[in-house]
Amino acid sequence: MNRAELAASYTDALRNYIAKASESTLERAYELGRQAIESGLSSTDIVAAHHHALRTLELALGSELTQGRKERFLIESLGPLEMTRHGYIQANRDLQRLFEEISERTAELENANYELESFNYYISHDLRTSLQAVLGFSRTLESHFGGELSPAAYRCVEQISNGAGQMAELIDGLLSLAQIGGARLERRPVDIDALAHKAMGQLETQLTGRKIDVVYEDLPLVRGDPVLLERLLVNLLANAIKFTGSRKRAKIEIGSFEQDGERIIFVRDNGVGFDMKRARRLFGLFVRLHSAEEFEGTGIGLALANRVVARHGGRIWAEAATGKGATFYFTLEKAKLSSPHST
Ligand SMILES: Nc1ncnc2c1ncn2[C@@H]1O[C@H](COP(=O)(O)OP(=O)(O)OP(=O)(O)O)[C@@H](O)[C@H]1O
Ligand SMILES: [Mg+2]
Repeated sequence: MNRAELAASYTDALRNYIAKASESTLERAYELGRQAIESGLSSTDIVAAHHHALRTLELALGSELTQGRKERFLIESLGPLEMTRHGYIQANRDLQRLFEEISERTAELENANYELESFNYYISHDLRTSLQAVLGFSRTLESHFGGELSPAAYRCVEQISNGAGQMAELIDGLLSLAQIGGARLERRPVDIDALAHKAMGQLETQLTGRKIDVVYEDLPLVRGDPVLLERLLVNLLANAIKFTGSRKRAKIEIGSFEQDGERIIFVRDNGVGFDMKRARRLFGLFVRLHSAEEFEGTGIGLALANRVVARHGGRIWAEAATGKGATFYFTLEKAKLSSPHST
């Protein structure tokens, strides 16, 4: 209904009401008000239609048109607008209350975050320092006084060093994980091919004595945080290197393909793999599918990889079978920056 239609309907309805004031003619006024709201017309439009109708009818009806009747019809037609106004006021109050609740929650979260930061600070400084002392002294005991210790005492000292070393690794892993959650995410063009080579370079020490064919294929340019993406690749590649340890000739493939308009990057290996039935919480913290005797590790790497991918708005998943290698796939929200290139 536009303004002209409202004015015409209003004149008609008012005429009927003046001819016979009844529930149904008042109901028509109410209906007009409701339609005016639905069509986006305002109370001013209704009042204008009312004035227009009165001017037309006054000439035709003269004294039949009493003040009371005019007003009643107008009030009735403004009823829905009044209700809507009340609705808005109520909605505004609800929004205000919600806003206050959110502000309170934000303050609580900020507080919790602050506590977490203090905890991290404590871990990285005080706890790490004490641990270094344990490590340092047990190593001194081993190297300087090893000869004076009985074999049983020597084994105890060895256990202390190993335990402290593992704990230091765990603390470093947890700190990295916390840093990824808190760090500001940069979004820059990143060449995954160059980054994969760089990540492999970081893992050089783990390649000594190993025969590994590494294939880099169709790796794209993406938009993302180069530091975080490097950590993601380092973790996936470190796993690929570690879990192919028993292979005479290991093969690691880093590639990508497009599916449903999405670029999917993957790291594939021909290592020991794992049983998919046991991999439900694979990306959870401290989840390990192989024992520490078989393969060393803290179970933080994939949790870290998962967090990096999540922070980019992407997904990560795996496909594997026992004894048949594993493939880790991931997407990054804006992985379609340009077409892939081969090396
Ligand atoms: N490429 C892979 N092949 C076979 N199993 C894998 C592979 N990658 C991960 N896994 C399984 O998933 C588990 C979790 O991996 P994750 O990287 O989180 O921990 P980790 O390598 O054991 O220790 P960390 O990375 O913290 O040193 C591993 O312990 C292993 O059981
Ligand atoms: Mg790992």
